[in-house]
Amino acid sequence: MKIHFATLVFPLIFWLVHGLNPQCATQDHGSNLQVFHVYSPCSPFKPSKPLSWEEDVLQTLAKDQARLQYLSSLVAKKSVVPIASGRQIMQSPTYIVRASIGTPPQTMLMAMDTSSDAAWVPCTGCIGCSSTAFDYAKSTTFKTLGCQAALCKQVPNPTCGGSACTFNMTYGGSTIAGNLSQDTVTLATDPVPNYTFGCLQKTAGSSVPPQGLLGLGRGPLSLLSQSQNLYQSTFSYCLPSFRSLNFSGSLKLGPKGQPLRIKYTPLLKNPRRPSLYYVNLVAIRVGRRVVDIPPNALAFNPSTGAGTIIDSGTVFTRLVQPAYVAVRDAFRRRVRVANVTSLGGFDTCYTVPIMAPTITLMFSGMNVTLPQENLLIHSTAGGITCLAMSSAPALNVIANMQQQNHRVLFDVPNSRVGFARERCS
Ligand SMILES: *[C@@H]1O[C@H](CO)[C@@H](O)[C@H](O)[C@H]1NC(C)=O
Ligand SMILES: *[C@@H]1O[C@H](CO)[C@@H](O)[C@H](O)[C@H]1NC(C)=O
Ligand SMILES: *[C@@H]1O[C@H](CO)[C@@H](O)[C@H](O)[C@H]1NC(C)=O
Ligand SMILES: *[C@@H]1O[C@H](CO)[C@@H](O)[C@H](O)[C@H]1NC(C)=O
Ligand SMILES: *[C@@H]1O[C@H](CO)[C@@H](O)[C@H](O)[C@H]1NC(C)=O
Ligand SMILES: *[C@@H]1O[C@H](CO)[C@@H](O)[C@H](O)[C@H]1NC(C)=O
Repeated sequence: MKIHFATLVFPLIFWLVHGLNPQCATQDHGSNLQVFHVYSPCSPFKPSKPLSWEEDVLQTLAKDQARLQYLSSLVAKKSVVPIASGRQIMQSPTYIVRASIGTPPQTMLMAMDTSSDAAWVPCTGCIGCSSTAFDYAKSTTFKTLGCQAALCKQVPNPTCGGSACTFNMTYGGSTIAGNLSQDTVTLATDPVPNYTFGCLQKTAGSSVPPQGLLGLGRGPLSLLSQSQNLYQSTFSYCLPSFRSLNFSGSLKLGPKGQPLRIKYTPLLKNPRRPSLYYVNLVAIRVGRRVVDIPPNALAFNPSTGAGTIIDSGTVFTRLVQPAYVAVRDAFRRRVRVANVTSLGGFDTCYTVPIMAPTITLMFSGMNVTLPQENLLIHSTAGGITCLAMSSAPALNVIANMQQQNHRVLFDVPNSRVGFARERCS
């Protein structure tokens, strides 16, 4: 199938930019925040003109591809991400939460990204940002940090413009620049005073979340590090399915109220990429059979960055080529329908109803069995069903469609990630 990216992505540029749909604006309580899909009817970022199912899938795949290049570039420590020229690819993360910044509080709908440490919001006067910006002049608690601030040494490409600590960096295919700043950030009802974030002055490119980014990585500048006393580097989420966009999921911050009955696998640390949540994926089962995968396709290697990460911002799970091919072939054998077709980057699609096997991700100490709703996408017209996974160049990424309707618990102090089935949509 031939795809014209520009026509697919164009409608997104007409996003209405303001707050949540009032019908959806129930209050966040305690340390629990509602999580919305960006295309939810609640979200101001949904396309103003609904995309067709095929357009939506192809666009999502294109965005994933860009994110994958970005994640791989993080691993390889290259700062510039190659993006095919002429393609406007939106690859903002998929889920948003509400955060309040400043005194009195200003509400922003920030994108949640477990593979980033940084938090940043567009500030008034920002060139290239969306129309909803944080008006820092109206906040009595806002401060711009100077070059002498210890945290200025942690930001990428710091410079001293005047006396302010300014930085610039790439995010996906975009570049952003701003001042390192501090203000109170309130998540649900918990204020985090003197929270350090980027106050954006300039952006270029299309992958910048319009109202800012909330990085949930575990590196030094992250929310987790800065709210250590409050949340002890522990959080969990349940992501709502994008088949039921009217539902919201939840983000629970801190150790209180986390599920007790949950299976865990150890978190692995890659010193070269401290923010990524690496885990040890040891094998994959299709139905009851363990698939024959060359061990080095799954092996964690801190020096090359290879291995498996859990990411909230990629939509469809990616496995490195030999692992993907083995899983796909086993899946096709089980489905036993001869006519396999493709759709964009998905190569295992069917135009007749199928009986699909489950796929079990076998991590050290934890098996996660994915049912059909986490594995298959169906066109709305019912004409085509695809296995919602594809191959990756360097890194296995357990993506958000495969996490939907699960509680995923990140417990950094105990160095483990938990998974439990939970229907949140
Ligand atoms: C980023 O900052 C560096 C200096 O730290 C500067 O040389 C470079 O031009 C800046 N890039 C952008 C896109 O602003
Ligand atoms: C950001 O830094 C620049 C350069 O120092 C300064 O001119 C500008 O006023 C600062 N903006 C904010 C919001 O702090
Ligand atoms: C926040 O910063 C202000 C001014 O720098 C300081 O007076 C206050 O004690 C800080 N609050 C906390 C909780 O660190
Ligand atoms: C979602 O909500 C909107 C408006 O609140 C409603 O019109 C629509 O029917 C709902 N969709 C589903 C699938 O429930
Ligand atoms: C496979 O697809 C082709 C072309 O669409 C069709 O002619 C053929 O009948 C299909 N075969 C089966 C077994 O469904
Ligand atoms: C995962 O499943 C395999 C069987 O395929 C079993 O041998 C293993 O003990 C299970 N692991 C856990 C932690 O339950």
